[in-house]
Amino acid sequence: MGRLNGRQWVVVVGVPLMSVAIGLVARCWLGGGAIIITVGLLAIFLAYLLVESRRFALGLFERQVKEVRSSYVQLEALLGLHALLKPAAPLPPTRFWAASPDLLREVALHIHRERPRHVLEVSSGTSTVVIALCLQRIGVGKVVALEHDAHYAEVTRRAIADHGLTGIATVVHAPLKDQQVNGETYPWYDLSGLRLGEPVDLLVVDGPPDTVHHTARYPALPMLAAHMAKGARILLDDGDRADERAIAERWAKESPGSQLGYLPLEAGAWSLRLP
Ligand SMILES: C[S@@+](CC[C@H](N)C(=O)[O-])C[C@H]1O[C@@H](n2cnc3c(N)ncnc32)[C@H](O)[C@@H]1O
Repeated sequence: MGRLNGRQWVVVVGVPLMSVAIGLVARCWLGGGAIIITVGLLAIFLAYLLVESRRFALGLFERQVKEVRSSYVQLEALLGLHALLKPAAPLPPTRFWAASPDLLREVALHIHRERPRHVLEVSSGTSTVVIALCLQRIGVGKVVALEHDAHYAEVTRRAIADHGLTGIATVVHAPLKDQQVNGETYPWYDLSGLRLGEPVDLLVVDGPPDTVHHTARYPALPMLAAHMAKGARILLDDGDRADERAIAERWAKESPGSQLGYLPLEAGAWSLRLP
Protein backbone atom coordinates (compact mmCIF):
# COMPACT_ATOMS: atom_id res chain seq x y z
CA MET A 1 0.00 0.00 0.00
CA GLY A 2 1.37 3.44 -0.90
CA ARG A 3 1.16 6.60 1.21
CA LEU A 4 -2.15 8.42 1.60
CA ASN A 5 -2.91 10.92 -1.15
CA GLY A 6 -4.27 14.43 -0.46
CA ARG A 7 -7.93 13.37 -0.70
CA GLN A 8 -7.39 10.43 1.65
CA TRP A 9 -5.70 12.72 4.23
CA VAL A 10 -8.72 15.06 4.07
CA VAL A 11 -11.05 12.11 4.81
CA VAL A 12 -8.89 10.47 7.52
CA VAL A 13 -8.23 13.73 9.42
CA GLY A 14 -11.30 15.74 8.39
CA VAL A 15 -14.03 13.24 9.32
CA PRO A 16 -12.86 12.70 12.97
CA LEU A 17 -12.36 16.50 13.35
CA MET A 18 -15.88 17.10 12.00
CA SER A 19 -17.29 14.48 14.40
CA VAL A 20 -15.62 16.24 17.32
CA ALA A 21 -16.83 19.66 16.11
CA ILE A 22 -20.42 18.35 15.76
CA GLY A 23 -20.12 16.87 19.29
CA LEU A 24 -18.93 20.24 20.68
CA VAL A 25 -21.82 22.11 19.02
CA ALA A 26 -24.30 19.49 20.29
CA ARG A 27 -22.86 19.96 23.80
CA CYS A 28 -24.48 23.43 23.91
CA TRP A 29 -27.92 21.73 23.75
CA LEU A 30 -27.35 18.30 25.25
CA GLY A 31 -24.55 18.95 27.74
CA GLY A 32 -22.31 15.94 28.57
CA GLY A 33 -24.60 13.52 26.64
CA ALA A 34 -23.28 15.00 23.39
CA ILE A 35 -20.22 12.72 23.73
CA ILE A 36 -22.50 9.92 22.46
CA ILE A 37 -22.95 11.80 19.16
CA THR A 38 -19.16 12.18 18.68
CA VAL A 39 -18.49 8.52 19.55
CA GLY A 40 -21.42 7.37 17.34
CA LEU A 41 -20.17 9.37 14.33
CA LEU A 42 -16.62 8.06 14.79
CA ALA A 43 -17.90 4.48 15.07
CA ILE A 44 -19.90 4.87 11.83
CA PHE A 45 -16.82 6.31 10.11
CA LEU A 46 -14.59 3.43 11.29
CA ALA A 47 -17.16 0.83 10.25
CA TYR A 48 -17.37 2.47 6.81
CA LEU A 49 -13.54 2.42 6.47
CA LEU A 50 -13.45 -1.26 7.41
CA VAL A 51 -16.17 -2.25 4.93
CA GLU A 52 -14.58 -0.15 2.15
CA SER A 53 -11.06 -1.52 2.69
CA ARG A 54 -12.42 -5.09 2.73
CA ARG A 55 -14.37 -4.47 -0.47
CA PHE A 56 -11.22 -3.02 -2.08
CA ALA A 57 -9.04 -5.95 -0.96
CA LEU A 58 -11.63 -8.45 -2.26
CA GLY A 59 -11.81 -6.67 -5.63
CA LEU A 60 -8.02 -6.75 -5.87
CA PHE A 61 -7.95 -10.44 -4.99
CA GLU A 62 -10.61 -11.28 -7.59
CA ARG A 63 -8.69 -9.36 -10.26
CA GLN A 64 -5.48 -11.20 -9.37
CA VAL A 65 -7.18 -14.62 -9.49
CA LYS A 66 -8.66 -13.71 -12.88
CA GLU A 67 -5.28 -12.58 -14.20
CA VAL A 68 -3.52 -15.76 -12.97
CA ARG A 69 -6.17 -17.93 -14.66
CA SER A 70 -6.00 -15.88 -17.83
CA SER A 71 -2.17 -16.03 -17.87
CA TYR A 72 -2.35 -19.82 -17.59
CA VAL A 73 -4.75 -20.07 -20.55
CA GLN A 74 -2.52 -17.75 -22.61
CA LEU A 75 0.60 -19.70 -21.65
CA GLU A 76 -1.04 -22.95 -22.78
CA ALA A 77 -1.96 -21.34 -26.10
CA LEU A 78 1.57 -19.94 -26.53
CA LEU A 79 3.14 -23.36 -25.79
CA GLY A 80 0.81 -24.91 -28.38
CA LEU A 81 1.84 -22.31 -30.95
CA HIS A 82 5.55 -22.90 -30.30
CA ALA A 83 5.12 -26.68 -30.53
CA LEU A 84 3.24 -26.32 -33.83
CA LEU A 85 5.30 -23.59 -35.47
CA LYS A 86 8.82 -24.27 -34.12
CA PRO A 87 9.95 -20.69 -34.89
CA ALA A 88 13.61 -20.24 -35.87
CA ALA A 89 13.85 -17.04 -33.78
CA PRO A 90 12.01 -15.87 -30.64
CA LEU A 91 8.46 -14.78 -31.44
CA PRO A 92 7.75 -11.06 -30.93
CA PRO A 93 5.68 -10.27 -27.80
CA THR A 94 2.03 -11.25 -27.55
CA ARG A 95 -0.82 -9.61 -25.53
CA PHE A 96 -1.17 -5.90 -24.66
CA TRP A 97 -0.52 -4.08 -27.97
CA ALA A 98 -0.35 -7.41 -29.81
CA ALA A 99 -2.92 -10.17 -30.26
CA SER A 100 -3.26 -12.60 -27.36
CA PRO A 101 -1.97 -16.16 -27.80
CA ASP A 102 -5.51 -17.62 -27.72
CA LEU A 103 -6.51 -15.55 -30.78
CA LEU A 104 -3.25 -16.48 -32.52
CA ARG A 105 -4.03 -20.14 -31.81
CA GLU A 106 -7.49 -19.68 -33.34
CA VAL A 107 -5.85 -18.17 -36.46
CA ALA A 108 -3.31 -21.02 -36.59
CA LEU A 109 -6.07 -23.65 -36.30
CA HIS A 110 -8.04 -21.97 -39.06
CA ILE A 111 -4.98 -21.93 -41.35
CA HIS A 112 -4.26 -25.60 -40.69
CA ARG A 113 -7.87 -26.64 -41.28
CA GLU A 114 -8.74 -24.48 -44.25
CA ARG A 115 -5.36 -23.82 -45.90
CA PRO A 116 -6.13 -20.27 -47.10
CA ARG A 117 -4.03 -19.19 -50.07
CA HIS A 118 -4.36 -15.51 -49.40
CA VAL A 119 -4.48 -13.92 -45.94
CA LEU A 120 -4.88 -10.17 -45.52
CA GLU A 121 -4.22 -8.49 -42.20
CA VAL A 122 -5.45 -5.05 -41.29
CA SER A 123 -2.58 -4.00 -38.93
CA SER A 124 0.78 -5.72 -38.57
CA GLY A 125 2.91 -7.15 -35.79
CA THR A 126 3.30 -10.46 -34.01
CA SER A 127 0.21 -11.84 -35.75
CA THR A 128 1.86 -11.28 -39.16
CA VAL A 129 4.84 -13.42 -38.10
CA VAL A 130 2.56 -16.14 -36.66
CA ILE A 131 0.37 -16.24 -39.78
CA ALA A 132 3.43 -16.43 -42.05
CA LEU A 133 4.89 -19.26 -39.91
CA CYS A 134 1.59 -21.16 -40.22
CA LEU A 135 1.58 -20.69 -44.00
CA GLN A 136 5.20 -21.82 -44.16
CA ARG A 137 4.32 -25.00 -42.26
CA ILE A 138 1.40 -25.91 -44.51
CA GLY A 139 3.56 -25.04 -47.53
CA VAL A 140 1.04 -22.80 -49.27
CA GLY A 141 -0.25 -19.23 -49.13
CA LYS A 142 0.88 -15.65 -48.61
CA VAL A 143 0.01 -12.96 -46.09
CA VAL A 144 -0.15 -9.22 -46.74
CA ALA A 145 -0.41 -6.84 -43.75
CA LEU A 146 -1.52 -3.21 -43.95
CA GLU A 147 0.30 -0.97 -41.47
CA HIS A 148 -0.47 2.72 -40.93
CA ASP A 149 2.69 3.44 -38.93
CA ALA A 150 5.95 3.54 -40.97
CA HIS A 151 8.07 2.72 -37.90
CA TYR A 152 6.05 -0.39 -36.96
CA ALA A 153 5.88 -1.45 -40.61
CA GLU A 154 9.68 -1.59 -40.49
CA VAL A 155 9.71 -3.36 -37.08
CA THR A 156 7.39 -6.06 -38.45
CA ARG A 157 9.43 -6.39 -41.67
CA ARG A 158 12.55 -6.98 -39.56
CA ALA A 159 10.75 -9.65 -37.49
CA ILE A 160 9.61 -11.31 -40.74
CA ALA A 161 13.21 -11.31 -42.02
CA ASP A 162 14.51 -12.70 -38.69
CA HIS A 163 12.20 -15.68 -39.16
CA GLY A 164 13.16 -16.18 -42.83
CA LEU A 165 9.61 -15.40 -43.97
CA THR A 166 10.20 -12.61 -46.51
CA GLY A 167 8.88 -14.75 -49.38
CA ILE A 168 5.61 -15.38 -47.50
CA ALA A 169 4.76 -12.12 -45.70
CA THR A 170 4.63 -8.56 -47.01
CA VAL A 171 3.96 -5.44 -44.95
CA VAL A 172 2.44 -2.58 -46.92
CA HIS A 173 2.82 0.86 -45.36
CA ALA A 174 -0.66 2.35 -45.80
CA PRO A 175 -1.05 5.64 -43.85
CA LEU A 176 -4.50 6.49 -42.57
CA LYS A 177 -6.41 9.01 -44.67
CA ASP A 178 -9.97 10.27 -44.42
CA GLN A 179 -12.23 8.11 -46.56
CA GLN A 180 -15.97 8.09 -47.24
CA VAL A 181 -17.53 4.79 -46.22
CA ASN A 182 -21.31 4.37 -46.48
CA GLY A 183 -21.86 8.10 -46.02
CA GLU A 184 -19.48 8.61 -43.08
CA THR A 185 -15.85 9.77 -42.92
CA TYR A 186 -13.35 7.37 -41.38
CA PRO A 187 -9.56 7.64 -41.08
CA TRP A 188 -8.62 4.35 -42.77
CA TYR A 189 -5.72 2.80 -44.66
CA ASP A 190 -4.73 4.33 -47.99
CA LEU A 191 -4.99 1.35 -50.32
CA SER A 192 -3.15 2.98 -53.25
CA GLY A 193 0.04 0.97 -52.50
CA LEU A 194 -1.81 -2.35 -52.19
CA ARG A 195 -1.75 -4.83 -55.08
CA LEU A 196 -4.13 -7.68 -54.27
CA GLY A 197 -3.85 -10.55 -56.73
CA GLU A 198 -5.94 -13.50 -55.59
CA PRO A 199 -9.16 -13.07 -53.59
CA VAL A 200 -8.72 -12.95 -49.83
CA ASP A 201 -9.64 -16.19 -47.99
CA LEU A 202 -8.91 -14.95 -44.48
CA LEU A 203 -9.08 -11.35 -43.27
CA VAL A 204 -7.73 -10.57 -39.79
CA VAL A 205 -8.77 -7.14 -38.52
CA ASP A 206 -6.87 -5.60 -35.58
CA GLY A 207 -6.54 -1.94 -36.66
CA PRO A 208 -6.66 1.00 -36.92
CA PRO A 209 -6.47 1.87 -33.20
CA ASP A 210 -9.78 2.93 -31.62
CA THR A 211 -8.18 6.28 -30.72
CA VAL A 212 -8.74 7.52 -34.31
CA HIS A 213 -12.49 6.70 -34.38
CA HIS A 214 -14.73 4.70 -32.05
CA THR A 215 -15.65 2.29 -34.87
CA ALA A 216 -12.31 2.68 -36.67
CA ARG A 217 -12.31 -0.94 -37.90
CA TYR A 218 -15.73 -0.84 -39.55
CA PRO A 219 -14.40 0.17 -43.03
CA ALA A 220 -12.42 -3.09 -43.35
CA LEU A 221 -15.28 -5.07 -44.90
CA PRO A 222 -16.93 -2.36 -47.03
CA MET A 223 -13.51 -1.27 -48.34
CA LEU A 224 -12.30 -4.81 -49.07
CA ALA A 225 -15.58 -6.56 -49.96
CA ALA A 226 -14.76 -6.66 -53.68
CA HIS A 227 -11.51 -8.53 -52.91
CA MET A 228 -13.02 -11.20 -50.65
CA ALA A 229 -13.30 -14.83 -51.79
CA LYS A 230 -16.62 -16.69 -51.52
CA GLY A 231 -16.93 -18.28 -48.08
CA ALA A 232 -14.01 -16.21 -46.75
CA ARG A 233 -13.64 -15.80 -42.99
CA ILE A 234 -13.10 -12.54 -41.17
CA LEU A 235 -11.68 -12.42 -37.64
CA LEU A 236 -12.10 -9.20 -35.66
CA ASP A 237 -9.96 -8.86 -32.51
CA ASP A 238 -11.04 -7.11 -29.28
CA GLY A 239 -14.56 -8.49 -29.63
CA ASP A 240 -15.42 -7.81 -25.98
CA ARG A 241 -15.57 -4.06 -26.72
CA ALA A 242 -19.01 -2.62 -27.41
CA ASP A 243 -17.76 -0.86 -30.57
CA GLU A 244 -16.33 -4.07 -32.03
CA ARG A 245 -19.65 -5.83 -31.32
CA ALA A 246 -21.44 -3.05 -33.20
CA ILE A 247 -18.98 -3.33 -36.11
CA ALA A 248 -19.38 -7.12 -36.34
CA GLU A 249 -23.18 -6.92 -36.18
CA ARG A 250 -23.21 -4.22 -38.84
CA TRP A 251 -20.98 -6.32 -41.11
CA ALA A 252 -23.30 -9.31 -40.67
CA LYS A 253 -26.35 -7.16 -41.44
CA GLU A 254 -24.70 -5.74 -44.54
CA SER A 255 -23.63 -9.22 -45.78
CA PRO A 256 -26.88 -11.22 -46.13
CA GLY A 257 -26.32 -14.97 -45.75
CA SER A 258 -23.14 -14.54 -43.67
CA GLN A 259 -22.68 -16.30 -40.32
CA LEU A 260 -21.54 -14.34 -37.30
CA GLY A 261 -20.15 -15.93 -34.14
CA TYR A 262 -18.48 -14.70 -30.97
CA LEU A 263 -15.25 -16.34 -29.76
CA PRO A 264 -14.86 -16.08 -25.95
CA LEU A 265 -11.11 -15.39 -26.00
CA GLU A 266 -9.06 -13.18 -23.68
CA ALA A 267 -9.95 -10.01 -25.58
CA GLY A 268 -12.96 -11.60 -27.31
CA ALA A 269 -13.15 -11.91 -31.10
CA TRP A 270 -15.83 -12.01 -33.79
CA SER A 271 -15.83 -14.50 -36.62
CA LEU A 272 -17.81 -13.68 -39.75
CA ARG A 273 -18.15 -16.28 -42.49
CA LEU A 274 -19.13 -14.71 -45.79
CA PRO A 275 -21.68 -16.54 -47.95
C1 LIG B 1 -3.64 -3.71 -31.97
S1 LIG B 1 -1.97 -3.73 -32.53
C2 LIG B 1 -2.00 -5.28 -33.27
C3 LIG B 1 -0.90 -5.66 -34.16
C4 LIG B 1 -0.97 -7.08 -34.69
N1 LIG B 1 -2.26 -7.49 -35.14
C5 LIG B 1 -0.48 -8.07 -33.67
O1 LIG B 1 -1.24 -8.85 -33.13
O2 LIG B 1 0.70 -8.06 -33.39
C6 LIG B 1 -2.07 -2.59 -33.76
C7 LIG B 1 -0.88 -1.71 -33.97
O3 LIG B 1 0.18 -1.91 -33.05
C8 LIG B 1 1.35 -1.35 -33.62
N2 LIG B 1 2.52 -2.20 -33.45
C9 LIG B 1 3.07 -3.08 -34.33
N3 LIG B 1 4.20 -3.61 -33.83
C10 LIG B 1 4.37 -3.05 -32.61
C11 LIG B 1 5.37 -3.18 -31.61
N4 LIG B 1 6.41 -4.00 -31.80
N5 LIG B 1 5.23 -2.45 -30.48
C12 LIG B 1 4.19 -1.63 -30.31
N6 LIG B 1 3.21 -1.45 -31.24
C13 LIG B 1 3.31 -2.15 -32.38
C14 LIG B 1 1.09 -1.18 -35.11
O4 LIG B 1 0.92 0.19 -35.42
C15 LIG B 1 -0.20 -1.95 -35.29
O5 LIG B 1 -0.97 -1.48 -36.36
